[in-house]
Amino acid sequence: MPNTPSLYRAVYFSTAAPHLSPAEVHGLATNASRANWREGVTGSLIFTGGHFAQWLEGAREQVQALLHRIDADPRHSAMKVVHDGLAERRQFGQWGMRYVYNLDLDDLLDTAHRLENGPALQDALRRIFLDTQLDDLNPSI
Ligand SMILES: Cc1cc2nc3c(=O)[nH]c(=O)nc-3n(C[C@H](O)[C@H](O)[C@H](O)COP(=O)(O)O)c2cc1C
Repeated sequence: MPNTPSLYRAVYFSTAAPHLSPAEVHGLATNASRANWREGVTGSLIFTGGHFAQWLEGAREQVQALLHRIDADPRHSAMKVVHDGLAERRQFGQWGMRYVYNLDLDDLLDTAHRLENGPALQDALRRIFLDTQLDDLNPSI
C-alpha cells in the first residue's frame, strides 16, 4: 500500500470482552484485514487473551471513522488511544491488519494499559508492535 501524502496513525489499547475466543478474534482480524485493505488502511492487531493493542494507519478520515466504529464494538472496552497524529510512512504497508496472537504479552499490556500516557508509554508500545513475532502471516488480502 503506497504512503499517502497525509498519512495518519492511531494506536490504542483496550480490554477484551471476557470469553472472547482466539478463533473469534482470528475471524475478526481476517475480516478487518480485507475491509481495511479496500479502504487503504493498514496496521497490526495484537490479542493477548485479556487485551488488544492495535495500530492503524491510512487517510485521516478513514482511520478516525474506523476508530469510532471499533470503539463502539462490544467485543472490547476501555479503549485508550495512546497515539494519534500524522506519520511519515507506513509501518505495516503489506498488511490490511497483521494479526499477532500472543498470550505471553498479556501482563505487559496489562501494565502498559495502566500507565499514564506519554513518550515512555508510546515508546514501549512501539517496541511491542515492531518486535512481535508473527503468529499469522496475512499479506495484502
Ligand atoms: C479489537 C477490535 C479491532 C477491530 N479492528 C478492525 C479493523 O481494523 N477494521 C475493521 O474494519 N473492523 C475492525 N473491527 C470490527 C469493527 O468494530 C466492526 O465490527 C466492523 O468494522 C464492521 O462494522 P459495521 O458492522 O458497522 O459495518 C475491530 C473490532 C475489534 C473489537
